[in-house]
Amino acid sequence: MFYKQAKAFPDGFLWGASTSSYQVEGAWNADGKCPSVQDLHEPPAGITDFKVASDHYHHMEEDVELMAELGLKAYRFSVSWSRVIPDGAGKVNEAGLAFYGRLVDALVAHDIVPVATMFHFDLPLALHENGGWAERATIDAFERYARVLFERLGDRVKHWLTINEQNVMVIHPGAMNPGRVPDQPELYQQSHNMFVASAKATLLLHEMWPDAKIGPAPNITAIYPASCDPRDVIAADNWEAIRCWNYLDVACFGHYNPLAWAYMEEKGCAPRIEPGDMELLAKAKPDYLGCNYYATATVAAAKNDGHDRAPRAGDQQVMLGEEGVYRGAENSSLTKTEYGWIIDAVGLRTTLRRIAGRYGLPILITENGLGAKDVLETDGIVHDPYRIDYLRRHFEQAQLAITDGVDLIGYCPWSFMDLVSTHQGYGKRYGFVYIDRGEEELGSLARIPKDSFRWYKGVIRSNGAEM
Ligand code: BG6
Repeated sequence: MFYKQAKAFPDGFLWGASTSSYQVEGAWNADGKCPSVQDLHEPPAGITDFKVASDHYHHMEEDVELMAELGLKAYRFSVSWSRVIPDGAGKVNEAGLAFYGRLVDALVAHDIVPVATMFHFDLPLALHENGGWAERATIDAFERYARVLFERLGDRVKHWLTINEQNVMVIHPGAMNPGRVPDQPELYQQSHNMFVASAKATLLLHEMWPDAKIGPAPNITAIYPASCDPRDVIAADNWEAIRCWNYLDVACFGHYNPLAWAYMEEKGCAPRIEPGDMELLAKAKPDYLGCNYYATATVAAAKNDGHDRAPRAGDQQVMLGEEGVYRGAENSSLTKTEYGWIIDAVGLRTTLRRIAGRYGLPILITENGLGAKDVLETDGIVHDPYRIDYLRRHFEQAQLAITDGVDLIGYCPWSFMDLVSTHQGYGKRYGFVYIDRGEEELGSLARIPKDSFRWYKGVIRSNGAEM
């Protein structure tokens, strides 16, 4: 549909930026922090681990000053559970908690809304060694961790996100399960326990801070059928339900998505549900939805001939197919990043419209961005016109989604500053701020705003009128 004029971004729109603790903080064993599963990560030769990352832990004040200079209205960060409660379930580490207290104070002092993710891929190692999310004890530990965070930060943090990309942790579990990748029944049990843990945190926040908001932050994307062959349409529907809607249906409606449940039964991985779980899930209602969006995917019907899964490597945005479920297909209308991720700005609009249509809740884009091999030029500047172009196109589609009636409350691109990618090291940069370090050599760790920083500053200042 053509509109005479797109609606303006609403007043108070949360122009933001995102990071996650283990990818940005470094200081992996400072001030009482114990390891998380990510600290066991053994990268391939030539790729960095997460031990120093962008050393945000030691540059926090300077980084928040830069956020203020950029004009950010919101900053989405995650709290490292093993910094706050080193073994996940035991004693609170005051020094670790104090870091987040200082961060939140600095943000609030600059009128930047803190958006705190409680768990972003970095389970405390001690919990992992005791069975991790497959164990009900981890639900209790999470509820207690939630209580500590709400007690100590809840007066200033009014936007919470429970779990980052629960769906990615089920579908691409390698990076979160060092030593052993669990089988599907265990992964779906982990997921069920995460649903219950999120529901408990949601109810707790509503009881303790009725003025605060909380929601999940899954990785959601529209899935296209490879053709108008009705069998391709069924495959796309199925995969969208299994990969995406299941995670929002449980969070918002309190029940499993029927297509996803049929899949779990067929695969023998339907989780064990304890008495009282479904009542709890039905009671805990999110106030808003986070959405991490990077790329759409296109799928065709499975043939169930032993070749539905492509024999190449993939990751969280590359749909490789699953035997008897779907086949990954190419989409000739779209291009890809140098890391093989599809670029589909219109797909963001489609995704937002689908979420809004299903759940009718406000949406915050909690991640979206372009990973690239940025270069610090001899003039001391990082010219990243490709990132500006990528974000501009996505912002335009977000504005059209608002015009379509989507209640979009903010947009937090990934990432505020360069950080360590989940599995492709420091070479794959996303930030508005370049960090002077290499893959293995640490460099000066100086913070250098990129061209995209100056461009985004203008976007924020004009509330999206100047892109
Ligand atoms: C999301 C994660 O899947 O994508 C982030 O929530 C991650 O943690 C981001 O960094 C980009 O992915 P990658 O693999 O390039 O780091």
